Amino acid sequence: MQRIDKILANRGFGTRKEVKALIKDGAVEIAGKVVRDPGFLVDTEQQKIAVNGEVLAYREHIYILMNKPQGVVSATEDRKERTVVSLLPENYRIYEPFPVGRLDKDTEGMLILTNDGQFSHQLLAPKKHVPKTYLARIEGRVTEKDIEAFKAGVVLDDGYKTLPAKLIILEQGRLSLIEITICEGKFHQVKRMFQAVGKEVIYLKRIAMGGLALDDRLSPGEFREMSEEELEILHKDN
Ligand code: URA
Repeated sequence: MQRIDKILANRGFGTRKEVKALIKDGAVEIAGKVVRDPGFLVDTEQQKIAVNGEVLAYREHIYILMNKPQGVVSATEDRKERTVVSLLPENYRIYEPFPVGRLDKDTEGMLILTNDGQFSHQLLAPKKHVPKTYLARIEGRVTEKDIEAFKAGVVLDDGYKTLPAKLIILEQGRLSLIEITICEGKFHQVKRMFQAVGKEVIYLKRIAMGGLALDDRLSPGEFREMSEEELEILHKDN
């Protein structure tokens, strides 16, 4: 059950104050009856809400694109650390979104948050091989040999041999800048792949997932709802 004024404010009908005025004016009907109490509790799954005669579609799912900043964990709750969900305002948190997969605490970049379990599963299922592209700063000189090694698959510290990954060298030197696309998501995968070739990842950012690139207008810590077109792209890829 949620307060009607809160629901309408969350749905973009104005500030809490504006919404209260709308309700007091008699513009809002719940289950066919005009309700003038802004604190009226609504069961959104059972009761239809209409504003000026227009019925609000019941909204089940939310899809958020975030540029995850460093220093927060990809979780809904954590006893010690700040979480990605804690960065969201209440009007998104009421939908109980969770991150689709994980980025390490020190990794930044594209993270999708949703409350749609099926959608999340489609993106994460190992069999689907959804591509994920990262930009990384590497301590050490990344070479053609590394490109070949990643293409063939490298053996991680636990003996797992990775699937073919695409490595592009953007800057080569004592510090290198690379782009890597992997189609699986083992724990610390990119960092461990570079470890396997004797190098260290010192900065990591996810820049794309499932054919969708991170919106570069989003600074670290910023987020927005995903568009229908963006959701399409991700569905199409699955
Ligand atoms: N690979 C890593 O090592 N860390 C991440 O956060 C994502 C991919």
